[in-house]
Amino acid sequence: MLNINPHQQAMLKAMGIDLPWQQPTAPAEKTSHTASEHAEQTVAASIPPAAPAQRQQQPKPVSASAAPTTTASQPSASVHPKPEHPSAVTPLSDAERQSRESIAQMSWDELTQAVSQCTACQLCKTRTQAVFGVGQPQAQWMIVGEAPGENEDKQGEPFVGQAGKLLDRMLMYLNLARRPEKDQLPVYIANVLKCRPPRNRNPEPAEMAQCAPYLQRQIELIQPKLIMATGRFAVQTLLGSHEAIGRLRGQVHHYKNIPVIVTYHPAYLLRNPVDKRKAWADLCLAADTFDKAQL
Ligand code: URA
Repeated sequence: MLNINPHQQAMLKAMGIDLPWQQPTAPAEKTSHTASEHAEQTVAASIPPAAPAQRQQQPKPVSASAAPTTTASQPSASVHPKPEHPSAVTPLSDAERQSRESIAQMSWDELTQAVSQCTACQLCKTRTQAVFGVGQPQAQWMIVGEAPGENEDKQGEPFVGQAGKLLDRMLMYLNLARRPEKDQLPVYIANVLKCRPPRNRNPEPAEMAQCAPYLQRQIELIQPKLIMATGRFAVQTLLGSHEAIGRLRGQVHHYKNIPVIVTYHPAYLLRNPVDKRKAWADLCLAADTFDKAQL
């Protein structure tokens, strides 16, 4: 049984995790999967196994003083080999690829404008507005989700619905916020898709392929110290893996030398609260990995 302090108890309560509970011990547990849009079940492995990182049982909130104020160099010692198939999405035609290549040179403002005016896929016809992201571009933490839902499409901001509220509570525990107050550290939140799929259906491979350069450029410009990939579409895009979340979590992966922690999508956690305890362990690993990246 964990020895947790009152702050941690409050966080667990905020995440809806009942106390007391046992710390999970199996790193690659089988989970009960749903067939719904955010089901965290996938089919084929495409990335080599990464070395399991030490999992702390009591993650420390990230302190502002512990984090440098400038973006430092990326950790390089523990980079895992690139997957054989770096992208799990449908390849673009030559013409499409050329038209997307200019994105890699864009400034932040140019990128924001390009996303807001994007017509590269059919989702532009049904969106209210494109949802670029939220947070400070200087953030050292980045969260990657799937796609805007109905609320996000209306408000123009990622994760503003129920899943977003859970995400915010989880981030609060790490002393992170999209709009930081006092000693909180900024986090940047973005999605794989910038436009809402109709009826919140799953992103299609062609849509992910068209939208991926935007996320790639966001990451290049932000240069976060750590990325949390929430759900299988974030994992597919960042790691090129179709492996199940339950098999990828508990390890430190990398996207272009940036540590990536895989965790369940908050919407999945709302439907499967029993897995919140695993998400808590993922937060522990994220905090630990972030601290190590500062060394
Ligand atoms: N789910 C996501 O993945 N992103 C959002 O912005 C909202 C819900």
